[in-house]
Amino acid sequence: MATEGVEVQVFADRDALVRAGAEALAEAITAALSERGVCRIALSGGSTPKPVFARMAATGRPNAEAWRRTHVFWVDERCVPPDHADSNYRMACEALFDHVLPASIHRMVGEADPARAAADYEALLRAHFGVAPGEVPVFDLVLLGMGDDGHIASLFPGNEALDERERLVVAPYVDKFSAHRITLTYPVLEAARERLVLVSGAGKHPALQRVLGEETASSADPLPAQRLRPTRGRTRWFLDRAAAEGA
Ligand code: 6PG
Repeated sequence: MATEGVEVQVFADRDALVRAGAEALAEAITAALSERGVCRIALSGGSTPKPVFARMAATGRPNAEAWRRTHVFWVDERCVPPDHADSNYRMACEALFDHVLPASIHRMVGEADPARAAADYEALLRAHFGVAPGEVPVFDLVLLGMGDDGHIASLFPGNEALDERERLVVAPYVDKFSAHRITLTYPVLEAARERLVLVSGAGKHPALQRVLGEETASSADPLPAQRLRPTRGRTRWFLDRAAAEGA
């Protein structure tokens, strides 16, 4: 499987990044539907996707017909109930899925026992995508962000989840939050047809320099975002100028 490489686009400010991110998501959904008649996307949480989702709801791009053929999953979730302020599912519903109707929505069950929730989500993915043990589901697009510490999904520096190459979904304990998270693992992120990474704000600049700089290949202690080794498709980094330049 050939990868299509990495593309970096820098936008003047956060608003321009949000508009571009919403358009890229709509285009990816439309392209998947025209090529395969169905679309499966996995969404991250955090603050950057929220205005992107809101813009998609406001613009009606993609349209209702496209959403009716699009299946929605999550990249990661906090271990909280779906109505909790920290829930990635709640954020996405308030911004988007209370306004559009996808073919199906599959939330990670944050209120359940973390290990159970991860195992159940993996089983759900295997059933939906029809993949056997040893195979990896292929999303049309996974939407990612990156933390100031270079984490992606809920794959945090120094966490054992970074080394998981067999399971599709795990529930690592994250020291910085004193809590578990539920997250897709690298094999799933790497197998997607497209990875769209949205990075906003000067706080992300130091990590970005490492991830997108020359040292990526040789880093002795790579950041989680540096450890992403796509096996298929393209990876697009959408940055605002503050993240790209640090000011
Ligand atoms: C989460 C996200 C997480 C996010 C980064 C960046 O559950 O918080 O999935 O991985 O993408 O923390 O978050 P911002 O978009 O808020 O900078």
